[in-house]
Amino acid sequence: MQKLHTQAEWIERAARVLPAAGFGNFDPGTIITRGEGSRVWDADGREFVDYLIGSGPMLLGHGHAEVIEAVLQQLPNGMTFFANNDKGIELAEAIVEAVPACQQVRFVASGGEADMYAIRLARAHTGKNKILKFEGGYHGMSAEAQMSLAPSRMQNFPTALPDSAGIPQSVADEMLIAPYNDLAAVEALLIEHSDIAAIIAEPLQRIIPAAPGFLQGLRALCDKYHVLLIFDEIVTGFRLAYGGAQERYGVVPDICTLGKIIGGGFALAAVGATADIMAHFDKSRVGAEQWLMQLGTLSGNPVAAVAGLKTMEVLRRPGQYDRLRALGQTLMDMQSAALSREGIAHQICGDPTLFDIYFTAQSVLDYRSAKHDTPTMGAVWNSKLREGGVFKSPSKLYPSLALTDEDLGITQMAIDAAAVAVAGI
Ligand SMILES: Cc1ncc(COP(=O)(O)O)c(C=O)c1O
Repeated sequence: MQKLHTQAEWIERAARVLPAAGFGNFDPGTIITRGEGSRVWDADGREFVDYLIGSGPMLLGHGHAEVIEAVLQQLPNGMTFFANNDKGIELAEAIVEAVPACQQVRFVASGGEADMYAIRLARAHTGKNKILKFEGGYHGMSAEAQMSLAPSRMQNFPTALPDSAGIPQSVADEMLIAPYNDLAAVEALLIEHSDIAAIIAEPLQRIIPAAPGFLQGLRALCDKYHVLLIFDEIVTGFRLAYGGAQERYGVVPDICTLGKIIGGGFALAAVGATADIMAHFDKSRVGAEQWLMQLGTLSGNPVAAVAGLKTMEVLRRPGQYDRLRALGQTLMDMQSAALSREGIAHQICGDPTLFDIYFTAQSVLDYRSAKHDTPTMGAVWNSKLREGGVFKSPSKLYPSLALTDEDLGITQMAIDAAAVAVAGI
């Protein structure tokens, strides 16, 4: 019989072959060995209700029967081709049908890669170099995206501060940083700098919602100053609504990026825009000088494409988004009730499809005001939830459509215990 390794053994093995004992994503002290439906199990067999859901892609839950069936049908017909394939073309059609900004898409393997190309595409299309990014906004791991993502010291706006070693100053020089939800700051930068190619924004920045009118205001400013608007919809796409945040908020960007859900749990993401902008990927249309060279081994991978297509088909069925929002709202209300009962200052921030708590009474509008949060409370909250069988990211909670009443019951108990623990700090 195969020997089962304990979590401690896996952690030790990981520490030998992986820097910082992990993949860089998440607490290396947890080794997940299985996921099914709304639950995951660690290497010691502990079971959790999963609110991490693979950092977003597993909106239907782990191992959804129809997605597995679609993948199993594809596997014997080929796992990857590099060449154009029918499944990838079908996925492109489904995305173009769903997402207002996308007349055409180009596939890549990760969200960060999609964001990198979105920035390059904006530069190619406008012939300008500077990118305006919001402090605290997350757009993957490119040099540009690593600017003022999680700065530990507060730099004067609009100076960009790299969050990673190994990034040349020349990249920072091409970036302008503004506070989220501050249209006046954005307009001042657009007036001062005539060489801005694009504004890149998360329509829900981490869990901080755009203030009413902010996204509409960005759209109007971009039109006024002839700057492209990029929405990073890697996380919001097919989550806030089938057509993403742009459908939910009624603001259509020039370029958008998608990932996570569209790959159904496999490596696939996309950058999309109007055919006119996307023409930069087509040398025959724009010529060598204007051409944006782009290729990738796994681009349009057929296994990812069928998983994404089936996930999207399930999401199109009536009532799915209503149910997702209702589940999220129930969880938000549970948290709020438990924390209020214990007299803990807090706010539940985000959208019912993706949210978490800031332990502060002050309103959170941007990266700096989010700093009013009390991290020790968050740490106790998260660790108590984990003890109570709830698995989540330290700063986000993703509901999934696989959640059951039993899951909500377990979560309720964990939340009540966590609220008592936080009150006792
Ligand atoms: C808004 C946003 N952009 C980009 C990314 C990067 O995507 P990936 O991890 O697939 O590279 C993420 C991932 O969480 C994200 O949330």
